[in-house]
Amino acid sequence: MDKNVASHTTHDAEADQRNQDIKIYVNGDILHRSDAKVSVYDSGFMLGDGMWEGMRLYNGVWAFFDDHMDRLFNSCKAVSIDIGMDKQGILDALTQTAAANGMSSDVHCRLMVTRGVKDKPFQHPELSRSGPTIVIIMEHSKPVASLHKAGIRLATVPQIRGLPMTQDAKYNSHSKLNCIIGCLQAEQAGADEALMLDPNGFVNTTNACNFFIVRRGAVWTSTGDYCMNGVTRQKVIDLCRSNDIPVFEKNYSLYEAYGADEAFLTGTFGAQTPVAEIDGKKIGGHDGAGPITQRLQGLYKALINDHVDEMNSIKS
Ligand SMILES: Cc1ncc(COP(=O)(O)O)c(C=O)c1O
Repeated sequence: MDKNVASHTTHDAEADQRNQDIKIYVNGDILHRSDAKVSVYDSGFMLGDGMWEGMRLYNGVWAFFDDHMDRLFNSCKAVSIDIGMDKQGILDALTQTAAANGMSSDVHCRLMVTRGVKDKPFQHPELSRSGPTIVIIMEHSKPVASLHKAGIRLATVPQIRGLPMTQDAKYNSHSKLNCIIGCLQAEQAGADEALMLDPNGFVNTTNACNFFIVRRGAVWTSTGDYCMNGVTRQKVIDLCRSNDIPVFEKNYSLYEAYGADEAFLTGTFGAQTPVAEIDGKKIGGHDGAGPITQRLQGLYKALINDHVDEMNSIKS
């Protein structure tokens, strides 16, 4: 890979000094970031035992809030973490935090729920007796433009996505070690981020986003069996279906990925981020987003605008 090309991550945001002074929600308190702390006995810190959601605020509306809550509540139920509040309680906490920061647009939030503070520094979940720890970090956040101009360089890595009976990739858990190892391996290969395969060697996902290719006018992504059930992934699939763009959730190999006309990543932060190269092989004949990626970027923007208008009209 060309070492002279500036490296990116899929979460590169424009520098914003205001983020040094944000207020953070910690279990009902709103604290300056320098005072926002959790215990060293917290299950999230000690064991990665917690779940989180990344969401974006557009004109006062948390985009696709219900989808994010479905995933969070499903994950917490599956691992017996009692969030201690319902969806409305979470929305109120988000609204309170946004108001304390004077934020309404171009905001990214990380909502974290852990099993809470442990009595002793051991693994057993029974030792977490305090009730959950809930933290909301909101930052002023705009993806850097260069991400969309240059695209991301991926490297296929030895670290794979596992079977659901090890640690189901659908858990947006605090422990992201599987993804972090993948990302480190990609960096060692001189790329920006990792392209991860499934246990059968089919192309699955990247360490932080879902992965799509475009081949001969059709959009392909993995079956979804070994990757995060991304909210943006599903929106892109739905948009393809409602706009007569052929879309397939299927097994495919690096052979098809290398020969793709376009490739892009999806995630709440970056929406659809173009992929420039995989394992040093340039994808497509264009720079930045290819024509179908651009079309999907436009459709997704319109979808967000409609969703935000609809939610704001319900509020008023
Ligand atoms: C590993 C992984 N894949 C994909 C995604 C994208 O999901 P979403 O579109 O819901 O932001 C995330 C985001 O949390 C993730 O952690």
